[in-house]
Amino acid sequence: MLFDRIKPLDQILAAAEKKGLKRQLGAFDLTMLGIGAIIGTGIFVLTAVAANKAGPGMMYSFVIAGVVCALTALIYAEIAAMVPVAGSAYTYSYAVLGELIAWMVGWALILEYAIAASAVAVGWSGYANGFLRDHGMGLPLALTAGPKDTITLADGTIASGGFNLIACMIALLITGLLVLGTSKSAKFTAALVLVKIVALTAFIAVAFPAVNGANFEPMLPNGWGTPLSGTGVLGAAASIFFAYVGFDAVSTASEETQNPNRNIPIGLIGSLAICTVFYLLVSYAAIGTAGAQPGGALSQSKEPLAFVLKNLGWPKLGDAVGWAAIIALPSVILMMIYGQTRILFTMSRDGLMPKMFSDVHPRFFTPHKVTIVTGVAVALFAAMFPVDALADISNAGTLFAFFMVAVGVMVLRVTQPNRPRPFRSPLIWIVGPGAVVGCAVLFMSLGWNPTIKYFLIWAAIGLVVYFGYARSRSVLAHGERA
Ligand code: ALA
Repeated sequence: MLFDRIKPLDQILAAAEKKGLKRQLGAFDLTMLGIGAIIGTGIFVLTAVAANKAGPGMMYSFVIAGVVCALTALIYAEIAAMVPVAGSAYTYSYAVLGELIAWMVGWALILEYAIAASAVAVGWSGYANGFLRDHGMGLPLALTAGPKDTITLADGTIASGGFNLIACMIALLITGLLVLGTSKSAKFTAALVLVKIVALTAFIAVAFPAVNGANFEPMLPNGWGTPLSGTGVLGAAASIFFAYVGFDAVSTASEETQNPNRNIPIGLIGSLAICTVFYLLVSYAAIGTAGAQPGGALSQSKEPLAFVLKNLGWPKLGDAVGWAAIIALPSVILMMIYGQTRILFTMSRDGLMPKMFSDVHPRFFTPHKVTIVTGVAVALFAAMFPVDALADISNAGTLFAFFMVAVGVMVLRVTQPNRPRPFRSPLIWIVGPGAVVGCAVLFMSLGWNPTIKYFLIWAAIGLVVYFGYARSRSVLAHGERA
């Protein structure tokens, strides 16, 4: 039978005790981890992409993506507090929907985390390369973007890049930090979160008073968008969804959290709420001061927030916001690679990925081997592809995983109504279906070519690997049922 391999929840909890990671993170650490993973390339770079798709209507896009994420955060908080072990959506699906679905979710999460890390590395490289160029240390143009990305030559013509050196290097550097230890990396993240908060606060404080209502006209130059078209308000919502991704990274750390039943919901919902408030204020101020019509200056900028400030006559502050992005975006890369390694770690512990992925370093207590493998892959993707394509592909994987988790949580409410739920999502029969429909609508709005097409190819490869490799090696296949 295809769908009969379900891993009992009690067995998942017992296995986590057997080959565990050290529990050392508290509620504050988790909220910082969440904000560290959330605020990044989405708001600093993809705001321009959203403007190009939706115009000033991207305000609605931020709201729509935020609502879908809020619904999903409630769902994640419920399941993560119930099953406080590493692995996030993958682990939950294993317990509820069975091994095949869990495998597909784990496979999709590789897009969510690893490809997102690559996307943020590329977004970061845009700011970093700009800084080097402005200070006479610019790299040769061919080394500033990947072969699938474009560069603008001195005479204004557009050409293909060669190898995004600096994006590749930052990914490798972060990988080294993660090998050295979670605790150190989490403190590092908290410091960088502060930098981002200060930068966005300064942006809002300066731009907000200068908002001009005329800049919101016409509000919807590309309309609301139709499914599979990848444009309009819904198309922009599907892309800008990337700005919110990361709150679920909190749940991937649950096995390393003290008192997870209390701290995981706080970390998930708290970090998402704080970021949503910032995004709405920032996007309102950006549109209201610079205008956001498709094809306009904001929509074409590689550093939209810095652009807005420079446009307003605050060039130094614009530079400072650029600096904040350079300093702080690496924390997002760190969280994404971290989340990825914990998922692969768990899949390995279940026998679905190579055994060496769950080896823990004797001195650093980190899964060093899987971290190195993941980091190298992230670095190579970052070296090759453009930021918007990576972000959209990552969104496809994330939306698939969110969809499955929402289905799983509703199934559990029916099949195991009496299992203790330290956090119960309110109004589950509104929140659950709302999350499912919201994720499906955003997924369809990503556009067929290339995003959904590539996602389906990735899923097909996943099925081949499952039936050709993982299924026969699964711990469950060998009767090790608790
Ligand atoms: N939400 C993260 C970002 O915007 C992934 O970069």
